[in-house]
Amino acid sequence: MTLLRSILSVFTVNSRKYSLNLQSKKPPKILITGGLGQLGVECAKYLRGKYGRESVILSDIIKPTAEVFNDGPYIFADILDFKGLQRIVVDHRVDWLIHFSALLSAIGEQNVPLAVRVNIEGMHNVIELAKQYGLRIFVPSTIGAFGPDSPRNPTPNITVQRPRTIYGVSKVHAELLGEYYFHKFGLDFRCLRFPGVISSDPPGGGTTDYAIAIFHDVIRKGRYECYLKPDTMLPMMHVRDALRALSEYLEAPNEMLNRRVYNVTSMSFTPEELADRMVKHLPEFQITYRPDSRQEIADSWPQVFDDSEARRDWNWKPRVDLDDLVTLMVKEVKEKIAANGF
Ligand SMILES: NC(=O)c1ccc[n+]([C@@H]2O[C@H](COP(=O)([O-])OP(=O)(O)OC[C@H]3O[C@@H](n4cnc5c(N)ncnc54)[C@H](O)[C@@H]3O)[C@@H](O)[C@H]2O)c1
Repeated sequence: MTLLRSILSVFTVNSRKYSLNLQSKKPPKILITGGLGQLGVECAKYLRGKYGRESVILSDIIKPTAEVFNDGPYIFADILDFKGLQRIVVDHRVDWLIHFSALLSAIGEQNVPLAVRVNIEGMHNVIELAKQYGLRIFVPSTIGAFGPDSPRNPTPNITVQRPRTIYGVSKVHAELLGEYYFHKFGLDFRCLRFPGVISSDPPGGGTTDYAIAIFHDVIRKGRYECYLKPDTMLPMMHVRDALRALSEYLEAPNEMLNRRVYNVTSMSFTPEELADRMVKHLPEFQITYRPDSRQEIADSWPQVFDDSEARRDWNWKPRVDLDDLVTLMVKEVKEKIAANGF
């Protein structure tokens, strides 16, 4: 009883200290690399809502749309140019680095040397940068960091990781390097393994992209040809949950973290189950199945992701279930098509 009381009082003191810190501290200056992909633009919006427009600098090597450019600070940053990155951190007094640049699973298989450069050399650059300037660094990992030898249902936080894609190999490398820098140099490295992230923005060439493309095709053309078999189960998450997870994890005090790398997820479903739920909103559509090389990748990935350690350590809890996800996607994709015509 006494032990329990003392544990509780330490927890209360820590959480009070934390909320006081948050109120009194200036917001962190955050740099997002690879920011023009599926997650970056939404992430910048989310974090600007929390920390202020000027606190979040979006960057990439491609030219932004006028909308992105006018939304807040945007700069060129090539993660393969170490000196350029140093200059940005110094000039903008960066505190936190969110490293999104990557070639995803399906795209990586099409250009392995480029995936090695962007995903592995790029990681070397940003982690060394974070060490030199004492930055907190967030690097997303993925269900693709597991392989056919890993348990698939459920896949725990710590288990065998022998991925068979260059994407997966580079993400295991990032996880291990980050943990090494944490233990060796005290670097504040934080990594979440995301499942397929679903949003209305165009996806970047991953194996879970079907769950986005299906909404675009069905709403525009009334039909969808799926590149995975109907019963392929994969873990998924709506972008709202993914960004909330990222933000809550980035703010979690170090004392709460027993790991630097956590599984997070919201749900698991198959293409057939997703199509069934969509019928409520879009009664007339046709779905056909023609599996391609992405089927082999999906068959080696987790089906159900065990995120109990994230729930236990920093109170992670998903909020968007499959019905909410379908409702949100139908609404958001319709709005996007009306606004942009794509
Ligand atoms: N989208 C998902 O479902 C998902 C799931 C798990 C993990 N993740 C991870 O989240 C991160 C973001 O994913 P995303 O879907 O937005 O990716 P994306 O492919 O849509 O975007 C990646 C961005 O990286 C940029 N990039 C490429 N080379 C670069 C370079 N040399 N310098 C700077 N930028 C460069 C690209 O221009 C692109 O805008 C990735 O690390 C990915 O592995 C995504």
